[in-house]
Amino acid sequence: MRLVQKLTLAFLAGSFAVLGVNGVLRVRREIRFFESAAVRDHRAIGGTLAVAVAATWRTEGEARARALIDEAQRRQGRVQLRLGPLPTLDAAGAATLAQEGALTRVEQGAKDDLRVTYFPVLGAPGRPVLAISEPLAEERAYIRRNVVDTLLLSGALAGISGLLAMLLGTWLIGWPVQRLVEKARRVGAGDFGGPLAIMRDDELGTLGGEMNAMCDRLSDAQRALAEAAEARVRALEQLRHADRLGTVGTLASGIAHELGTPLNVVAARAEMIARREVEGGEAVQSAQVIEQSAARMTTILRQLLDFARRRPAETQPCDLVGLARETCGLLSTLAEKKGVALELTDGNASVVAEVDVGPMQQALTNLVVNSIQAVNPGGNIRIELGRVTRAIDGTATHCAFLRVRDDGEGIEPERISRVFEPFFTTKPVGEGTGLGLAVAYGIVRDHGGVIDVESAPGRGSTFTIVIPERAPEPGTVTRQPMESSFA
Ligand SMILES: Nc1ncnc2c1ncn2[C@@H]1O[C@H](COP(=O)(O)OP(=O)(O)OP(=O)(O)O)[C@@H](O)[C@H]1O
Ligand SMILES: [Mg+2]
Repeated sequence: MRLVQKLTLAFLAGSFAVLGVNGVLRVRREIRFFESAAVRDHRAIGGTLAVAVAATWRTEGEARARALIDEAQRRQGRVQLRLGPLPTLDAAGAATLAQEGALTRVEQGAKDDLRVTYFPVLGAPGRPVLAISEPLAEERAYIRRNVVDTLLLSGALAGISGLLAMLLGTWLIGWPVQRLVEKARRVGAGDFGGPLAIMRDDELGTLGGEMNAMCDRLSDAQRALAEAAEARVRALEQLRHADRLGTVGTLASGIAHELGTPLNVVAARAEMIARREVEGGEAVQSAQVIEQSAARMTTILRQLLDFARRRPAETQPCDLVGLARETCGLLSTLAEKKGVALELTDGNASVVAEVDVGPMQQALTNLVVNSIQAVNPGGNIRIELGRVTRAIDGTATHCAFLRVRDDGEGIEPERISRVFEPFFTTKPVGEGTGLGLAVAYGIVRDHGGVIDVESAPGRGSTFTIVIPERAPEPGTVTRQPMESSFA
């Protein structure tokens, strides 16, 4: 039920109660007034007449006394006068008659109820009484009319007040509250426009004004937030791209070495063909070797370009084993140069998760490059993959993991909590920018996952990327403090 209807009902109930009580009291007052007026009349007539009848009876006899009553009856049309024996009275009635010299009571008449007052005719033989009676029908009809009038008046008053309360309530409360509710709904849906126009000098008008001011402030805050988020995304994107280009530089030096061998082969075979040192079947074979070398170089260059190129963020189901294998291929030259073994233990089973392939490969590359830099020649790096159920943001989630385990120098306990900080590096100037892990952390968080770290000085390090198999809905990823991801 609406507020205005409730108020109107309450108002109507209150009006009915007040008017009803007033009506009942008024009718009772009138009944009492009628009774006392009637008794007063009876006693005024009967008191005098009873004394006169008693005196006449004593001096002139009964017949004269009755004639006197008849004479009085002719003059008093409204009441009935009668001389008769004392009726049977109860003790209280007899006492009243004795004390007050009169007794009034209501009796059942032939047609109707009667109000009767008895007066003793003192000194007359047989102790007769003078009875004055009048029917109550007229009085009761008047009271009934009065009750009906009171009811009609109360109903009309309450109806008019209720109607007024309804109209005023709708205009003063219902309409502005409806506008406020619609505005609140729009605000809830993120629409801060369309200011409220409640031109009132009352509480609801003030509330409307405050709501408009609040919407203006929210709109400003939303704009500032959107701009800040956009700037943050831009900065993050630039950071990731810079990091990718840095890694590309590292890879390029290794790849230059990788390209050297096929290039030499191509040059040597082409020279042999050009000088006609080989002919016929041998020339064809040399051309095939040149073709194979060119294909290998094209693959290497495409991988490098793929890695460096900016790509729009989009997740798709991806076999992480393939992604890890490709990363190993890219970094194998770097590892060989350092003299470390880079090994992928995938168990040949596919581990599928929804990822943005480019950034996820970048994150894995950053971990593996760190390991290559941390191990001594002759050391080992192992990449492992698998599935695990993990509590992410308080919910048990089916996850895939990518683990990079090395037996390198390890990390001091007091440094572990800092490795994900942007620009934290322990490498000499020019060798490390301290962005690799920060960027990897950002990428993994964007996938709704975490990176665990286990490390001890001299005992190697293990970095584990854990990501949900199903990518989170865009915008649902919550940022956690970096420390919370350390194992
Ligand atoms: N596998 C690891 N073994 C030992 N220390 C590590 C390992 N991975 C990271 N670290 C430590 O964490 C620091 C930060 O790593 P991060 O990749 O963020 O930066 P960086 O490698 O120093 O520089 P960049 O990656 O930008 O070239 C490193 O300087 C190193 O001290
Ligand atoms: Mg690094």
